[in-house]
Amino acid sequence: MFSNYALRIAHYALKFKEMLRNMKRNDPCWCGSGKKYKKCHADFDARIDEMKFVKAHNQIRPPKRLINNAADIEGIKRAAVINTGALDLMNELVREGVDTLTLNDAAHEFITSHGAHPSCLGFEGFPKSICISVNNVVCHGIPSRKEILKSGDILNIDITTDLDGYFADASRMYTVGEISAEAQRLIDTTREIMEVGIAAAQPWHFVGDIGAACGKLAHENGYSVVTDLGGHGVGKKFHLEPFVSHDCRANTGMLLVPGIVLTVEPMINAGRKEVTVDDKDNWTVRTADGSLSAQWEKTILITETGAQVLAS
Ligand code: MF3
Ligand code: CO
Ligand code: CO
Repeated sequence: MFSNYALRIAHYALKFKEMLRNMKRNDPCWCGSGKKYKKCHADFDARIDEMKFVKAHNQIRPPKRLINNAADIEGIKRAAVINTGALDLMNELVREGVDTLTLNDAAHEFITSHGAHPSCLGFEGFPKSICISVNNVVCHGIPSRKEILKSGDILNIDITTDLDGYFADASRMYTVGEISAEAQRLIDTTREIMEVGIAAAQPWHFVGDIGAACGKLAHENGYSVVTDLGGHGVGKKFHLEPFVSHDCRANTGMLLVPGIVLTVEPMINAGRKEVTVDDKDNWTVRTADGSLSAQWEKTILITETGAQVLAS
């Protein structure tokens, strides 16, 4: 008797939800595409509704504000073109004897002369236009006239560009002169770790799959993964949900659905995973044990078939 009654309530609840949805089928879609709801995200919503979200696994339904429409994707791509140009320019400039403020100023000039803004500048008080993180610096290194590149250095340059309200975020590793085989292996493996993370970013699967793939490859190579910082949603803001861990369990965290844009940006240490924040500048993140660290970052779009790289 009781279960019959419960079933009936569930049935009516479902009917009511359907009614609500049906009434809106000819309305403009919530994503802002201008198309009718029924021709746009109606099936998408139904698919999410059908999925089971298991609290025990900390699985999260994506909020609508994280779903980017075609115009949003074009906006992010336009910002990405300039961002990519700035990262390419660094290839020409990174060499022995150059100070990192010179690199910062060149990137700043490139981005602003293309009508865009270097998003790091002034972000939560960050004092320069890009992040440059050398050797044992994990991320958020502040460019400085006093920091002069020398042969054997490895560095991450992380650039974010915003244009017309859209953000593109990517970083790459650069090398100076002759570097050690050990440093080269760290750089190459970290890039592979980012790529397996991107390959694991599949629609209708979970964001935790990214970290599960990254973590596995990192540990197989004897490296540790920084977990105090991670990737993030990006697009209409610099930093959005979800937090993207690079070492976690599969099938956890936010459901990845078409239209979500996020970064995959593993920070991989040759030694231990612990990091410290500089207590004078409050930005520079270093490995606690002084070991080398590497990072690569791409901005990706979740599509119906997988991940599409928007910025790299
Ligand atoms: N670009 C970094 C990221 O990948 C963030 C840098 S924030 C700054 O998320 F303030 F340090 F610039
Ligand atoms: Co970045
Ligand atoms: Co980022």
